Amino acid sequence: MFTVQNEIDFSTNHEILIIGVFEKPVKFEEQLENLDQLFDGYLTQLVKSGDISAKRKAISTVHTFGKIGAQRLLFVGLGKEKDFDFEILREALGKAFNAAENGRITEAAVFLDSLISTHVDPLDAAHAVSEAFALATYHFEGYKQQSNDGSKKIEKITVLSEQADGDEIHSSLTVGYSFGIGTNSARTLVNLPSNMLTATDIADYAKELGQEYDFEVEILEKEDMLKLGMGALLAVNQGSIEPPKMIVLKYQGKEEWKDVLGLVGKGITFDTGGYSIKSKDGIVGMKTDMGGAAAVLGAMQIIGELKPEQNVVAVIPSTDNMVSGGAFKPDDVITSLSGKTIEVLNTDAEGRLVLADAVTYAKHHGASYLVDVATLTGGVITALGNDTTGVFTNHEVLLEQVLEAAYEAGEPIWRLPIFEKDKERVRGSKIADLNNSPGREGHAIMGAAFIGEFAEETPWVHLDIAGTATINHDHELGPAGATGVMVRTLALLVERFEPIE
Ligand code: BES
Ligand code: ZN
Ligand code: ZN
Repeated sequence: MFTVQNEIDFSTNHEILIIGVFEKPVKFEEQLENLDQLFDGYLTQLVKSGDISAKRKAISTVHTFGKIGAQRLLFVGLGKEKDFDFEILREALGKAFNAAENGRITEAAVFLDSLISTHVDPLDAAHAVSEAFALATYHFEGYKQQSNDGSKKIEKITVLSEQADGDEIHSSLTVGYSFGIGTNSARTLVNLPSNMLTATDIADYAKELGQEYDFEVEILEKEDMLKLGMGALLAVNQGSIEPPKMIVLKYQGKEEWKDVLGLVGKGITFDTGGYSIKSKDGIVGMKTDMGGAAAVLGAMQIIGELKPEQNVVAVIPSTDNMVSGGAFKPDDVITSLSGKTIEVLNTDAEGRLVLADAVTYAKHHGASYLVDVATLTGGVITALGNDTTGVFTNHEVLLEQVLEAAYEAGEPIWRLPIFEKDKERVRGSKIADLNNSPGREGHAIMGAAFIGEFAEETPWVHLDIAGTATINHDHELGPAGATGVMVRTLALLVERFEPIE
């Protein structure tokens, strides 16, 4: 897919050559001088006249009329150099690759040295190129008899750079591409309708990942759950004809099984709300209620590719949340794997129930740190909107590491609190240890506080992705639909993780 050319030779044939241009064309004059000379200085003039726009994410195409090997130059605006960063570059490149694919291009070259500045070195830029390429050109095939996706795909990218070692650039390209592909795998899982992706299908997918990357795989069946006493996951599954699965993947990157990061992902394949049933509008889209599971599996794919020196246990509780004569009901009291009893006040607050058992089970598998990801509450959308993931914690130092990973991944997250009063509300049942829905006030916090009761003393971070797992419009780095949010944050967290004393 990627080739690096360390000596720049503009006579090489390419369908398109992608070049970055800053609003003040300082870089242009320094680095593209040779190219500009081949065009008798016209490129500089086109930038000055604005025919080649340097405005952030602007795309301008110039035909080369055989003056160089490439048939066309695709200029992508990078805005003002002082504001330029990795994030802007990723989005600009996403637009460039989109434009290239729409132009029915199957091969492209990228002039990497035009994409760097004080804040973005050549290796960062290489990562941005391959990640943006994978993300921006993602499509979900869908089920139309007549596919309208007749567009050609880019199959080969040559990266031109004299500024860094070719092998190092190549390995950055490989890493960036893994991040993109892992995100895309999560997107596909989330985009699949629930009749095409049951808990059994997710378990089968996890087994395949395990085979490919040599993870240890454990799938708990309903009988195993009954024996262990996973009453919370079983209660949510009660109304379903589909068997539940508790899916465990283990990756051992250290000699000893210690300092284990537990990644837990909500895997509700469809959420009707159960007897606390959703409205006819609110129920549409609930195939995406396994976005947390998808994020964890996407991250595991990247971990499998990059093999960091860390220990990771991924735990995914999966079922759909249905109604039937056997379904669990409001007022039911259930006993979780931890032994804590729960009064069910709302069967639509099912995510926290399945996560309760998953968090406990991750601890049984030796997790010393926990990060859970879940499309947990509509409340987080009210609080933070659709661009920002909500984050909650019982441990400041672990949170710090998650915030850094999210920042580096370009995935905005923002903290919401869990105070003692909040904990009191989830503990406020007259007949059980906890209740799963203390009322709508601050219910993103209630969901988090509930899960925290099962993390107990283990350092834990909860990511509520109800607002960010999907997007309702096409964007620079992908189409409308699933975003694959938190895949890259989780993978970076694992890669960079420092055990906490
Ligand atoms: N799966 C939903 C949360 C959700 C809402 C995800 C919108 C994606 C988009 C979750 O299980 C749920 O129903 N939460 C309830 C909790 C309430 C009953 C306390 C909610 O948010 O209304
Ligand atoms: Zn629900
Ligand atoms: Zn749900």
